[in-house]
Amino acid sequence: MSTLRDQLPWTSSPIIANAPMAGFAGGKLASTVTLAGGLGLVGGLFNMDDLRKELQVVSEALASDPILLSSKTVPVGVGLLPFVLKLDEVLPVIGEFRPAVVWLFAAKSLDDYTAWASAIRNVSPDSKIWIQVGSVSAALHIARTAAPDVFCLQGADAGGHGFEKGAGIISLLPEASDTLAKEGYSHIPLVASGGIVDGRGVAAALALGAQGVVMGTRFLASKEVAVHPNYQAAVLEAHDGGQVTTRSKLFDQLRGPNIWPELYDGRSLVVQSHKDYVNGVSLGDIQKLHKEAVGKDDRGFKTGLQGRAAIWAGTGVGLVKEVESAKVIVEGVRTEAKGILAKVARF
Ligand SMILES: Cc1cc2nc3c(=O)[nH]c(=O)nc-3n(C[C@H](O)[C@H](O)[C@H](O)COP(=O)(O)O)c2cc1C
Repeated sequence: MSTLRDQLPWTSSPIIANAPMAGFAGGKLASTVTLAGGLGLVGGLFNMDDLRKELQVVSEALASDPILLSSKTVPVGVGLLPFVLKLDEVLPVIGEFRPAVVWLFAAKSLDDYTAWASAIRNVSPDSKIWIQVGSVSAALHIARTAAPDVFCLQGADAGGHGFEKGAGIISLLPEASDTLAKEGYSHIPLVASGGIVDGRGVAAALALGAQGVVMGTRFLASKEVAVHPNYQAAVLEAHDGGQVTTRSKLFDQLRGPNIWPELYDGRSLVVQSHKDYVNGVSLGDIQKLHKEAVGKDDRGFKTGLQGRAAIWAGTGVGLVKEVESAKVIVEGVRTEAKGILAKVARF
């Protein structure tokens, strides 16, 4: 059985990846995470020229590093959102860049992953296909139809988009693992995402059967992330993640009609737009106020849950307290997880 470390030989255990947060996770974040022994992922951008620019940042940052020189692929991943991207526009970029991982999340239909996985394997045979899903049945369906190299099981605590109907990783991951094993797919390594922000979360995910973790919200408080200062300040001040964040499709309607596939909603801080929605303000008025707010310097991001723009963040947000380098985050979380696992082993 291939382990995740066989696929990502430069990484240190336990494997930590930054989530490919579109518009937030650029080349700077991804290369820093990779150089710290994690898997850096660049968030899929809608414009291929913008994506190429971020990948150029990665190439420059890793240019003289032995892990790049000794590898058939570039030791980072590229995240893609199939429902908004055109496969024929993406393929040349993947073929040229040859990332170690191509991460797919949110296709219009689960069956679309088959064509995406096969076309990507065609242009970059050594890239591994990671698919993020939020249910056992989706994982099983995709295992049968697209043969991914890795599944990321995304729990309902996750920040940003995810399955509207979900479960936390504490039940999702073991059930997915058992079901996949029973159906003959135990060779597909699993990683976990959703609510993991420190070594305790990593240790828990490994105990559940994950071979690695993906963190998004924690990296919103990194020095390398591309985020508006008010957005980051709102993440840092947030307490009690289950209270100050919520899942809703409203966040995808703030700019106009919701273009996300039916299966998905998103978790954001409970910003003013959502409070208005709960209080019965009409969608039209909420959209109007949102449009005005995002045109200002702060782009609608405010602290105190006062902003009108969505601030995507997971329930782990209450544990994120300071901005650090992504290198410090990866190394610190890894060391903490190892310490906890050693302590638990003595229990
Ligand atoms: C700000 C933000 C943006 C995100 N954007 C994307 C994205 O573009 N593509 C994607 O596959 N996942 C995206 N996600 C979801 C992540 O893949 C991941 O599931 C999530 O961050 C894990 O939960 P956590 O935030 O609690 O760590 C995003 C998450 C956040 C917080």
